[in-house]
Amino acid sequence: AAPLSFPAAADSDFSQPSQRDPFFQALQKVQTQLGQKVQPWIAGQYQATPQAIPSLNPANPEQVVGEIGLTSPEQVEEALAAAQACFPLWKRTPVSVRAGILRRVAEQIADQRAELAAWMVLEVGKPIPQADGEISEAIDFCRYYAQQMETLERGQERHVPGETNRYHYQPRGLAVVIAPWNFPLSIACGMTVAALVTGNCVLLKPAEQSSVIAAKLAGFILTALSEAGIPAGVFQFLPGVGEAIGPLLVKDPRVHLIAFTGSQAVGCQILAQAAQLAPGQQHIKRVIAEMGGKNAIIVDESADLDQAVKGVINSAFGYSGQKCSACSRVILLEPIHDLFLGRLIEATQSLNIGDPAHPSTQVGPVIDGEAQARLQQAIQSAQSYAHLELSLPVPERGYFVGPTLFSQVDPQSDLAQRELFGPVLAILRVPNFSTALEMANATPYALTGGLYSRTPSHIEQARQDFAVGNLYINRDITGALVERQPFGGFKLSGVGSKAGGPDYLLQFLEPRTLTENI
Ligand code: NAD
Ligand code: ALA
Repeated sequence: AAPLSFPAAADSDFSQPSQRDPFFQALQKVQTQLGQKVQPWIAGQYQATPQAIPSLNPANPEQVVGEIGLTSPEQVEEALAAAQACFPLWKRTPVSVRAGILRRVAEQIADQRAELAAWMVLEVGKPIPQADGEISEAIDFCRYYAQQMETLERGQERHVPGETNRYHYQPRGLAVVIAPWNFPLSIACGMTVAALVTGNCVLLKPAEQSSVIAAKLAGFILTALSEAGIPAGVFQFLPGVGEAIGPLLVKDPRVHLIAFTGSQAVGCQILAQAAQLAPGQQHIKRVIAEMGGKNAIIVDESADLDQAVKGVINSAFGYSGQKCSACSRVILLEPIHDLFLGRLIEATQSLNIGDPAHPSTQVGPVIDGEAQARLQQAIQSAQSYAHLELSLPVPERGYFVGPTLFSQVDPQSDLAQRELFGPVLAILRVPNFSTALEMANATPYALTGGLYSRTPSHIEQARQDFAVGNLYINRDITGALVERQPFGGFKLSGVGSKAGGPDYLLQFLEPRTLTENI
């Protein structure tokens, strides 16, 4: 096996009081900083906005975590002009300086691990250990993309008598980054630093629900740029409502690239808008769109059921099922269907649901009232066509939805086809392994998938035919690691190369060949 060439940041060991205690101290500290203003950073300064919206704690919606200033259309215009003005300088900034800036961002994230986790608990309801893992991922993105860019910079030279050839990369120009709330630090960070290290000026539009955390990231980037003596216009931070300012950014002819992670509906809209040539536009926009999933785990008759139950629970209910990689369908082979279902129900019943700040909580709230109402409605309507096995009770206060299991699910129903993005699991029964694979592939998505099996021929068949970007055998289907498990899907799960993988940065660059006769 090839040795690992990239040392990943270590997660905290919560069994050690010395590593655990700082998180609880940070939670107390952060509680004293609630309600702070988040303002856009445009043309080298923080700016007041005409309007603001509150960012609420989903476990306790009376608590205002921050006041999010909404970037106005005029401010978007100013940000685009400032980014354009800075591009010539940033483009010529040596890769060693740009890579150094990413490593400095990583250092700041690592230094503030406990505080950042506390903000994630309060702003997006992510339980502490899961927030901790996300922080490691953000650090890894910075360090990995810095290393990758240094490798890419070498390009390639081919000389023959009388002729030199150099193959190298140049930045594209202005990159708009549009981020989701569910990995509020790591995904926003990964897309942003990839665009920066490749020499593009970045306009970051964070998700409305997680703008306080995104503002922390923006602060680290600004510190690193300023320490390196780089003008702050290289990076603009634009909190705002997606539907309001997203299209202004996407459609602008000065923009060269859009890196988006979010829902399939918005991703497809961005792809369509970016494909339209605006007056004066002299380039085709590049869109990287990482979108949703309807991910399945197959459990066959040879599987270790204890391992499979644990893997399905972690994959389906980790962060309340709000991961693009989450398991939302379990496909069970006939002989183990009843046994597995019984064990799954028992294990699900033992989950601790509640305040994400509490050390024993495994399942916290969903992101907001809209998500809670949407999921409650989906659970209600699914009861007319599937069998509700279990829906766990939840605290009264806060936007909670209990882990929910449905059996006897029609593979063509909403429950089996639509990404619900919550702790709702559809259980499907199949007579044999080929039908299991066919069913697993029978959605428009292709992001993650899993198989629990000890049958070599099934494992081989899954390798060949399970149509997903990330296939996991006998383990959870979430939690891909940068460099070790480059992450991303195809079909309607996205377009673009995998995040945290060797091809990712190429999307942010234009390749050039220079031939010279001598
Ligand atoms: P979303 O699509 O609602 O929002 C994502 C971002 O797009 C936000 O910043 C939002 O403000 C912005 N936006 C909304 N409307 C816009 C518009 N018209 N123009 C431009 N921008 C607009 O998604 P979400 O609810 O934040 O995230 C959940 C979704 O993200 C799920 O579908 C999940 O599967 C997906 N996701 C995918 C990956 C992946 O790597 N494939 C990772 C995380 C999340
Ligand atoms: N990269 C994240 C995971 O693998 C989405 O779960």
